[in-house]
Amino acid sequence: MEKLFVSSWCDGETVPENYVFPPELRPGDNLNPKSDITIPIIDLNKLHGSDRASIVNQIMEACIEFGVFQVINHGVSRETMDETRRMFSEFFKLPAEDKSKFISWDQNSIFSLYTSNYNYHEEKIHFWRDVVTQKCHPLEECIPYWPHKPDGYREIIKEYSVKMIELGSRILEVISEGLGLEPGYFGKELSQDAKVNLNHYPPCPDPRLTLGTAKHNDRSLVTILLQGHGNIPGLQYCKDGEWTTIDPSPDALVVFMGHIMKIVSNGKLRSADHQSVTNKTEARESSAFFLCPTQDCVIEPAKALITPENPPLFKSITYTEFLKAHNATRNLKANPEDVVKTFSIKA
Ligand code: OGA
Ligand code: NI
Repeated sequence: MEKLFVSSWCDGETVPENYVFPPELRPGDNLNPKSDITIPIIDLNKLHGSDRASIVNQIMEACIEFGVFQVINHGVSRETMDETRRMFSEFFKLPAEDKSKFISWDQNSIFSLYTSNYNYHEEKIHFWRDVVTQKCHPLEECIPYWPHKPDGYREIIKEYSVKMIELGSRILEVISEGLGLEPGYFGKELSQDAKVNLNHYPPCPDPRLTLGTAKHNDRSLVTILLQGHGNIPGLQYCKDGEWTTIDPSPDALVVFMGHIMKIVSNGKLRSADHQSVTNKTEARESSAFFLCPTQDCVIEPAKALITPENPPLFKSITYTEFLKAHNATRNLKANPEDVVKTFSIKA
């Protein structure tokens, strides 16, 4: 297997220079920051009872204030979550000959295994991560391109995908209700393109110098993140310059608002800045399930939210144009918000 993959060359002793982030971007001693920020944990069971209005409110408040919340009793069984964690973990442990045929940086591939990031060949500093990006829509057309190994991969990840798409739709219905949009507003082109990142962060000899993923906002409408087995911390959220760890919990899923939600809500909902750090002793894994717009979908502030007092803050663009601009503005020093600013309408 190519020596490109962190897991194929890291020797437990050295951090190559092109993995060392500049002092202002690296985590330093802030590997497990705690702050006063409390990211709410929302019990979705209560959406069915007399507490419904209060749960909708809690979700909206979390989206407005943080752009992220966690959910429990979300309808994805613990067994599906654990089996999914096991599949992802076993996939990265497969022998090189089983994985090498999937190596690709092509963002159009249905199943691609690569390292660091999709712009690996241009970037100066790499992320301490090996990663798979796997398309899940249309599900039946994608499955034949997914791996056969580990045993059961296709069946388990299919079940996981179906459940994540269902959960995503339920959450999006709540958000459209909370924003005052018509039912089903997010249900079609805006969220139809489902894909998942499987992140594998090998142990790193000096986690203070490296990042698994640098500070970013997701390019999705919403993302549902499953932290891997072993409750290994590493996911961090940033609000107004202050970092906090999102502690893994085996039953909870993390829901992030992406760039697209910020645009569609005309800036009412926040998109969450986040990053992940490495650790010295154990490989950490996570899977980020992205609900994204289709390529031709027009991204713009929802018309129903626009009034003379609340004029549109963003121009209309297609998702393809958005991705192009995202690729062009992406660099480590850029604030994740700058991507969205590219489309903002200046007064
Ligand atoms: C991502 C991501 C964070 C993590 O894949 O977009 O933010 O905890 N991952 O791995
Ligand atoms: Ni992310």
